[in-house]
Amino acid sequence: MNTQVVIIGAGPAGLLLGQLLHNHGVDAVVLERKSADYVLGRIRAGVLEHGTRTVLNAAGVGTRMEAEGLAHEGIELAFDGQIHRIDFEDLIGREVMVYGQTEVTRDLMDAREAAGAVTVYEAEEVTLHDIDGDRPHVSYVKDGVTHEIACDFIAGCDGFHGVSRRTVQDRVQTFERVYPFGWLGVLVEKPPVWPELIYAGHPRGFALCSQRSPTRSRYYVQCDGTDDVAEWSDDRFWDELRRRIPPEAAEVLQTGPSIEKSIAPLRSFVAEPMRFGRLFLAGDAAHIVPPTGAKGLNLAVSDVVYLSDGLKEYYVERSSAGIDAYSARALQRVWKAERFSWAMTQMLHAFPGADPFDRRIQRAEFETLRGSRAAAQALSENYTGLDF
Ligand code: APR
Ligand code: PHB
Repeated sequence: MNTQVVIIGAGPAGLLLGQLLHNHGVDAVVLERKSADYVLGRIRAGVLEHGTRTVLNAAGVGTRMEAEGLAHEGIELAFDGQIHRIDFEDLIGREVMVYGQTEVTRDLMDAREAAGAVTVYEAEEVTLHDIDGDRPHVSYVKDGVTHEIACDFIAGCDGFHGVSRRTVQDRVQTFERVYPFGWLGVLVEKPPVWPELIYAGHPRGFALCSQRSPTRSRYYVQCDGTDDVAEWSDDRFWDELRRRIPPEAAEVLQTGPSIEKSIAPLRSFVAEPMRFGRLFLAGDAAHIVPPTGAKGLNLAVSDVVYLSDGLKEYYVERSSAGIDAYSARALQRVWKAERFSWAMTQMLHAFPGADPFDRRIQRAEFETLRGSRAAAQALSENYTGLDF
């Protein structure tokens, strides 16, 4: 098989890149290790930045998002039971869209199928070849048969545990911070407890009240990094959540049986550079952020916007300037999101071994946001998304 770009991974990064390239008239094949159902079964975050919403609409995959998504003009920050709203609309005239990553993935899958573009699911043993040459190629095994795809470029959109970064592991420089805690997340068929998302810092640990629809909610509590989800009954989860969120929210919390419950580790990670010859890394394959700033999906979007712009320049305008600038351009925005996600995590979590000074600094961070319009504007700019 021949194509212009082989995209490894059918998560948000790979599927959106495929959609953007298709719209630019660039041919791409997506290779995905799992089945489509398996990919859609992953429960992930749910906040889309202003820019992400714009990109999805411009790419022609925003109809259901605009119909079913929940536009939010702010968030609530809570600290030791006190609550303070950060009003994005008032502060910077922006909003975010609350719409599950699963739904974004579904919309992208539907668009790719409607376009008749090639996606190979359950592609095993994906292997990258000659990435530093002029004619790289990718091999994979499907139903026991080995296939080869010759291409011009390979986009490694295969996530943190993918084969792409592993292929260049001796050439990549990594930067990492592993946090000593995780997030235990619960999906429940109950109306959200509060009109806005609540990010709550508390001595017992962080808690987040998020949403999926007017009848479905997503909640998280910080848990120990070594916890097993089997140790957390629904009752234990709801009790802990009530103790950490502001009393006025705890009083009206509607609980019910969890329809999904899982623990995610928290990590900050960046791999540099994001290009190796004809191979480009994008999304989680190149970087990971703690979900405190809701940046994971949104960084995948900005990466593939930069990459698709560069590839369009290469094929349509016969210029390599865009792809040559990709890594530096993407990393500039990646590191700002890494900083923001790290800072939000530092402010809101109970760190094992934290001393009274640490707790006072966390409180001062909260008071600064509550007392300074400029500080609240800076948080708003980062949360709703820096311009591309
Ligand atoms: N061959 C083919 N596909 C692979 C391979 C491989 N060797 N390894 C991983 N994949 C697939 C995974 O099955 C997954 O579907 O690549 C896809 C990567 O998708 P994500 O992990 O979702 O990463 P990305 O598309 O960059 O999206 C980032 O997803 O995990 C969340 O928090 C993250 O919100 C962020 C977003
Ligand atoms: C979610 O709804 O899953 C969610 C929302 C905001 C975050 C992280 C996760 O910061």
